[in-house]
Amino acid sequence: MKGIIFTEFLDIVEDSFGLEVCQEMLELANDDGVYTAVGSYDHNDLVKLIISLGKVTGISTETLQEIYGEAVFPRLYRTLPKLDKFQQDTFSFIKSVEEHIHTEVKKLYPDATPPHFDFLSETKSHMLMDYKSARCMSHVCKGLIKGCAKHFHQNVQITMEPINKKQSHVRFSIDLIME
Ligand code: HEM
Repeated sequence: MKGIIFTEFLDIVEDSFGLEVCQEMLELANDDGVYTAVGSYDHNDLVKLIISLGKVTGISTETLQEIYGEAVFPRLYRTLPKLDKFQQDTFSFIKSVEEHIHTEVKKLYPDATPPHFDFLSETKSHMLMDYKSARCMSHVCKGLIKGCAKHFHQNVQITMEPINKKQSHVRFSIDLIME
């Protein structure tokens, strides 16, 4: 998994929970915390860090993944070149993640395996899509979608339905809430 995912994770943990919690988490995970944005690391090390953070803070790993996803969105967004006119709201942005952004990530870094999205149906206010990934990080995905909606100043309600037990396949139902 790309180093930027790890460096941003450590940064977000420090920002949200403080340096001490961050250090306790690293100690518990037996991790030296040395990551560079351009490196590539074992995805299981991130899972270990999230589990340790859960133990240190008493917060569920699902909630922690969501907090991380939401906080990492603007940081990933900033790494993108200028966006085109098709990326003006939450739904069009999510589609461009599947069609362009993650595709570019895979081209740039052949060892990266971002998730795959299948779009099942869409109206102006509703999107039904499947998340598929051997990484089983659907809660990070939920957080990223929340971060994306926040960026576009939209309110969303997200419901997740696991399609298999290990949650490598999860159905997302996203509703835009109009004020
Ligand atoms: C709504 C927006 C987005 C969603 C829902 C999304 C979803 C995800 C999820 C859930 C993961 C974790 C791995 C997995 O579950 O398989 C991931 C990984 C990743 N995403 Fe995205 N993403 C979004 C936007 C972006 C943006 C804007 C970038 C900018 C470059 C990006 C680049 C990456 C990279 C580099 C990885 C790590 C892949 C690897 O190393 O294997 N994503 N994405």
